[in-house]
Amino acid sequence: MKPESAALSPGPEGSWRRAARELRAAFRRWKRPSHEQRLLAFERSGSVPWSDGYAIHRSRVIASTLADEQAMDVFRRGQPLPAGFGYGLDERCVEVPWVLSRLSRETGRVLDAGSALNFLYLLELPLWRQIDLHILTLAPETNCFWQRGISYLFEDLRDLPQRDGLYDQVISISTLEHVGFDNREFAGAGRLEFRPEDFRRAVSELARVLKVGGRALMTVPYGVPERLSGHQVFDAQGLTNLVDAFGPAESRLSHYRYDEKGWQLAGPEACTDRRFVDWISRPPAERARSPFPVQPDGAAAARSVACIELVKTA
Ligand SMILES: C[S@@+](CC[C@H](N)C(=O)[O-])C[C@H]1O[C@@H](n2cnc3c(N)ncnc32)[C@H](O)[C@@H]1O
Repeated sequence: MKPESAALSPGPEGSWRRAARELRAAFRRWKRPSHEQRLLAFERSGSVPWSDGYAIHRSRVIASTLADEQAMDVFRRGQPLPAGFGYGLDERCVEVPWVLSRLSRETGRVLDAGSALNFLYLLELPLWRQIDLHILTLAPETNCFWQRGISYLFEDLRDLPQRDGLYDQVISISTLEHVGFDNREFAGAGRLEFRPEDFRRAVSELARVLKVGGRALMTVPYGVPERLSGHQVFDAQGLTNLVDAFGPAESRLSHYRYDEKGWQLAGPEACTDRRFVDWISRPPAERARSPFPVQPDGAAAARSVACIELVKTA
């Protein structure tokens, strides 16, 4: 085996500069705080949403919910959540378990429209073993797990190239509200639009690529209707428009509501006053200028979410 120093010595096409670069990178990796250290620092500094350590905290809460069969049963059956569930967390902590609790485990092709599942801790779940998963966004993301047999598609949901009835199931987590809004953060400079009704075209395309009898599981922020810079918030009329755009289907709606006690299952009427904390949907330069406005109830983003299950009928 070569000694370490030999690996660093400049070969015919090597150079001291490259060796120094590699050494610096190794030093940075060694100095980088561990997840545990970042979590500790996050908690000590008040668990502020979206600050360093938040994403680690959120992924751990979601992962532990997904690993807990009883908790998943609560989502599957539409039962009330335990007191304090998801306090200080954004809507993903209910959306992801809700969707994955209802996803059929049978072999088949599944579309994740909007790529909310494109995280290793979610893609490592055994449920994907039988499933041919396609992840679709407007543009490539930093995370990419093609080695796990996942297909990535970079297309516009309003005009999909897939054939009719290709998918057995379609998932879309907190994506439809972004269609036709400012998507520069995800897909580059040319993606500044204001076409708030375009979610209908996206929904009708999702229905088209789903086979008859197939299931669509979609979530959107709900409550006080607003058109913010990066997305919109749906109200009851918006949801009706969304379901109508899908076409013939059996539909079931669930709503979750956030307050100072965390996330809880609720009726739609109890969610109409819920307002989105509009910080995360602002352009990154604006977020860099204004720190997250800490909320008295600990909210991070949506204060209500609608979860829509549609089974396509002929
Ligand atoms: C809030 S992000 C959600 C995904 C993100 N990876 C996450 O962390 O959950 C919204 C996604 O919607 C996608 N999107 C918005 N408009 C779209 C459209 N017209 N067609 C396809 N994807 C779209 C963007 O590319 C972006 O990936």
